[in-house]
Amino acid sequence: MDTNPVIEMLGRRLRLAVIGGGPGSSIGSMHRAAARIDDRYELVAGALSSDPDKSRRAASELGIPRAYGDGIELLDAEAERDDGADVVAIMTPNDTHHLYSLAALERGFDVICDKPITNTLEEALDLLQRVEESGLVFCLTHNYTGYPLVRQARAMVEDGQLGEIRLVQVEYVQGGKASENDPVPGDDLPWRYDPVRGGPSLVMGDIGTHAHNLVRFVTGLEVSEVAAEIGHIVPDRLVDDYAGALLRFDNGARGIFWVTQAAAGVENSLRIRVSGTGGTIEWMQEQPTTLIFRPLDGPVRVHTPNGPGTLPLAARASRIVAGHPEGFHEGFANVYSDAAEAIAARRAGLEADPLALHFPDARDGVLGVRFVDAAMKSSAAGGAWTSATLESRV
Ligand SMILES: NC(=O)c1ccc[n+]([C@@H]2O[C@H](COP(=O)([O-])OP(=O)(O)OC[C@H]3O[C@@H](n4cnc5c(N)ncnc54)[C@H](O)[C@@H]3O)[C@@H](O)[C@H]2O)c1
Repeated sequence: MDTNPVIEMLGRRLRLAVIGGGPGSSIGSMHRAAARIDDRYELVAGALSSDPDKSRRAASELGIPRAYGDGIELLDAEAERDDGADVVAIMTPNDTHHLYSLAALERGFDVICDKPITNTLEEALDLLQRVEESGLVFCLTHNYTGYPLVRQARAMVEDGQLGEIRLVQVEYVQGGKASENDPVPGDDLPWRYDPVRGGPSLVMGDIGTHAHNLVRFVTGLEVSEVAAEIGHIVPDRLVDDYAGALLRFDNGARGIFWVTQAAAGVENSLRIRVSGTGGTIEWMQEQPTTLIFRPLDGPVRVHTPNGPGTLPLAARASRIVAGHPEGFHEGFANVYSDAAEAIAARRAGLEADPLALHFPDARDGVLGVRFVDAAMKSSAAGGAWTSATLESRV
């Protein structure tokens, strides 16, 4: 990534405002770092907390030029300025994604929002409609799609190297919620433990949507039906900490989906294995710089970023010569940088490089929430096969 298409198209970087992601948050610093890695954004404004004083203080302490007390105040003020923000990135708790995304679109900002897009399918569908009506760019930060070898996996599937896809296994296993000392009713519940704020299923909103999106990104397939069990494995817990499901895909392929946050000692084990008629690929997030390809009729191949056999979609996702590890920040930055290219092209009335248009968008967000919805319905019906398509929603 030696050139800067945003500067080429606009003659300047995009002006970015952030809502959420204050000091100590899980993901705020990742967004801010991702935005800067390729010099496509300049951070100009922030509202970093729901408490106005904390919000202004946090933005000032981080050196963000314009510090606001509230997200809507930020959007109103930035929309009025000649040098106001172009793009708004939202990394607040899940229940505010719809509110801030909609308010940003209504004021003409392009939007980058963290997952899940919303907590409810109705809100997600409403947002998708508003995005389509506005013509603005909406990027959803399913950041695992930005890893060079996840893009290589997708490109190999598109290239036909795996043949017809028949089997998919995805797991996202964490151990962060393996201990049993959760908040109890009456405590000041952290937002994730409050179904109104965190969404109907903690594990599905937090990591199930990532796993579902990764499968769709790599295979290009859609989940047509799901048979799921979702619940809690830690006794007396009030929120979901595991989900297991069988999947049927729109081409007839079969899959298995397993996500939990209660596997003691496990860190961030996101893994995918995809088998087609021509071979199998395997990738693990904790060893992101190797992609194993097991062809049907040949020796096993190990792909590395920028190594031999790298396809163009993956090559543009690496910034460094082969052998130098790239990881979470760089993957996140790829999503930001591709969104920047699409936003700059839209603003300049130009076409973006088609290879830049692989970042997750509002439709991906809707399908993620639809999958959660269908899996929960299946689980409530004792694991019955349940349609997960948008057309079949009730
Ligand atoms: N892409 C990823 O891998 C990833 C990882 C973690 C979290 N997330 C998502 O990011 C979002 C935030 O999660 P988190 O773990 O960072 O939460 P967090 O609780 O750690 O941090 C939330 C931050 O938002 C601020 N905030 C809360 N309400 C606000 C408001 N109304 N206006 C402005 N600021 C507000 C808080 O002060 C805090 O700084 C969630 O939607 C979550 O699903 C994504």
